[in-house]
Amino acid sequence: MSEIRIRGLCPLKGEIAIQGSKNAALPMMAASVLHKGTTVLTHVPRIQDVFCMMGILESMGCRCRLEGHQLEIDAADLTSVSIPEHYIKAMRSSIILLGPLLGRFGEAVTSYPGGCSIGRRPIDLHLEALRRLGAGIREEDGKILASAGRLVGAEIRFGFPSVGATENALMAAVLAEGTTVIRGAAREPEIQELSHMLNGMGARIRGAGTDVIQVEGVKTLRDTQVRVSGDRIAAGTYIACVMAAGGRICLRQTEPESMTAVLSAFSRMGARIQAGGETVTASMDGRPAAIDLRTSPYPGFPTDLQSPALAVLASGRGTSCLEETVFEGRFATARELVKMGARIRVEGNRAMVEGRFPLTGTRVEAPDLRGGAALAAAAMAAEGETVIGQCRHIFRGYEDICRDLAALGASIQRESEATWVE
Ligand code: EPZ
Repeated sequence: MSEIRIRGLCPLKGEIAIQGSKNAALPMMAASVLHKGTTVLTHVPRIQDVFCMMGILESMGCRCRLEGHQLEIDAADLTSVSIPEHYIKAMRSSIILLGPLLGRFGEAVTSYPGGCSIGRRPIDLHLEALRRLGAGIREEDGKILASAGRLVGAEIRFGFPSVGATENALMAAVLAEGTTVIRGAAREPEIQELSHMLNGMGARIRGAGTDVIQVEGVKTLRDTQVRVSGDRIAAGTYIACVMAAGGRICLRQTEPESMTAVLSAFSRMGARIQAGGETVTASMDGRPAAIDLRTSPYPGFPTDLQSPALAVLASGRGTSCLEETVFEGRFATARELVKMGARIRVEGNRAMVEGRFPLTGTRVEAPDLRGGAALAAAAMAAEGETVIGQCRHIFRGYEDICRDLAALGASIQRESEATWVE
């Protein structure tokens, strides 16, 4: 059991450094498998999903050493191309090991990751892309058995810009014979980071960050060291918290240029935001204004900040409509916000919100990673104490949300601490 207790209505004030990006670090860790040598990642977030990916890599024969925020992965002596089932059930995104395993070894064994609370999350686009590169993929008793001689470059066309499928295709193409062109590619900053790291290892990739990526296959790669960027979703989460609580915060080690849609939407809601270099300052007085908001693939408003935005609008004033276009089931947090007095009506992929302030502190359960973080934001705008259960979801992606919010002035306590962290 893990829970967080928050006393609401404490304006935030302070400055923190933002952790490394979960969604950049995980594919970069997977990419290390492509190279029969050593990869060093710095500014790696110390989160459950990183520890889980380390466990997978070690189960396949890699040697991983995490010291502080520096992760060294030696993939010289991989002994297995099979991703243990319990890991892929624990962390869906381990499916992005398929591409690098096929790329280097010509074979890979995994299992269907299955859906989760935000949607069905099929992997058809991943498998279709790898088949285009020459992989034979068959399914047996829920297992996925992939094999190929040497992958051969091809043209891949995505009907939807899937982040994970783009990452799998990109990594598989790096050692394939000839040229691969990925059309309809995801444009997220994490794709650019992965491409930058792979090119540092000797790959030949152009166009990452646009919807057409070209890869010239190479035969060998080399050791590299690369820094993981600041987590744009964690940064956006903390801006949502100051919008709910009021006050003024400064976030360092961020990437404002990858947060344009986020900063624009939050400004429309009334936040005063200044961004320069690697720093974002956000302040809020008065209640957030109602806006209509729609999530979409990058560079649109990110689906990962939909729940935090919902929490902010729910504690604002006026009527808003929030439309989720990326995942079909990502409104589980609404039910928990309603327990806090929020007025939200979910109709299909739209949530109609009637702002109300203050909300009421009560016991709620984190439905998923970003939903749990959204409940922390809502708790900042609630009278009394809020207890958030099932916080293991939050610890998957946030290095220490209690440490960070306490450093910003929140009155927050974890189950294992006897006193309030002021
Ligand atoms: C990545 O997930 C992120 N995870 C997610 O962040 C993020 O929400 C998502 O991209 C969208 O930005 C990591 O990077 C580890 P997708 P991914 O493939 O790759 C459908 C978080 O909270 N789809 O872009 O799994 C899928 O069902 C997590 O940090 C197919 O239909 O997302 C979804 O509706 C949550 N077939 C949509 O595409 C496929 O083969 C977007 O999924 C693949 C995806």
